Amino acid sequence: MSHIQGKTFVVTGGNSGLGEATTRAIVEKGGKVIVFALNEKRGEAIMKELAGSVFWPGPTDVTVEDAVISSIEKGVERFGKISGVVNCAGIGMAQKIVSKNGKPQQLNNFERVVRINLMGTFNVCRLIATHIMANNKDASEKEEDPGVIINVVSIAYVEGQVGQTAYSASKGGIAGMTLPMARDLAGHVRVCTIAPGMFQTGMSNAANDLFFERHLIHPYRMGKPSEFAHLACAIIENPMMNGEIIRLDGAIRLGKL
Ligand SMILES: NC(=O)c1ccc[n+]([C@@H]2O[C@H](COP(=O)([O-])OP(=O)(O)OC[C@H]3O[C@@H](n4cnc5c(N)ncnc54)[C@H](O)[C@@H]3O)[C@@H](O)[C@H]2O)c1
Repeated sequence: MSHIQGKTFVVTGGNSGLGEATTRAIVEKGGKVIVFALNEKRGEAIMKELAGSVFWPGPTDVTVEDAVISSIEKGVERFGKISGVVNCAGIGMAQKIVSKNGKPQQLNNFERVVRINLMGTFNVCRLIATHIMANNKDASEKEEDPGVIINVVSIAYVEGQVGQTAYSASKGGIAGMTLPMARDLAGHVRVCTIAPGMFQTGMSNAANDLFFERHLIHPYRMGKPSEFAHLACAIIENPMMNGEIIRLDGAIRLGKL
């Protein structure tokens, strides 16, 4: 069993929704969290509430190399070396490829979603993995990997809805990186991806009774952020979890909405 107790993890988007629940779960298990996100007020607030266990280095845009490097350095100075990352930062967007009045979706809207979700995730992965490998040079001789990366997609990576071409493309890209990244980092960092269904966060309050009736199987409700955090911690703790994309969705299967 890998341990969370006494270790430090980065959680991107760790001050809201699924990321915040993950921050809280890691802290409950005796770990420390460096939060990489944008909302300063929420970042300061969670650092104050969980003082000594959570560090907010200031706003960190996951797509910006210098910002991520600087926040890794500040975090390491505060809590010591980093053992992993849970990449929850992301955005959604609903826009059809051709609008009702015949206009093509703007390329920069598509690019923004792919930039934040896919490139932002990759940017953080490559910089955290570099840090972990530099700090654990003899790792491949040990039985257990010293690091873990958990990325977050959505069931939309395979079951995208109307208007989700950009979101699904960004999440499909992350899903596709899972196995090659696990292979690249073998002996140093395990890599898994969680594909949530519908979870109760600010991003997902669009679900209504009709949606529930059509798509939910069991449990007949949205997921709780704490249930996502439970799986993230289980992946950190279980050394056999590697190279896998795990749906966490109560067997939801989406048709055409
Ligand atoms: N809630 C759901 O039902 C659901 C379902 C499937 C997948 N997801 C995925 O889970 C992840 C978390 O979503 P959530 O529901 O907690 O939403 P959320 O909006 O509460 O959290 C997203 C976080 O990402 C941060 N963020 C956005 N752009 C950023 C950037 N450039 N740099 C740094 N941080 C940035 C935001 O500040 C926020 O803290 C997302 O990747 C989302 O796509 C959510």
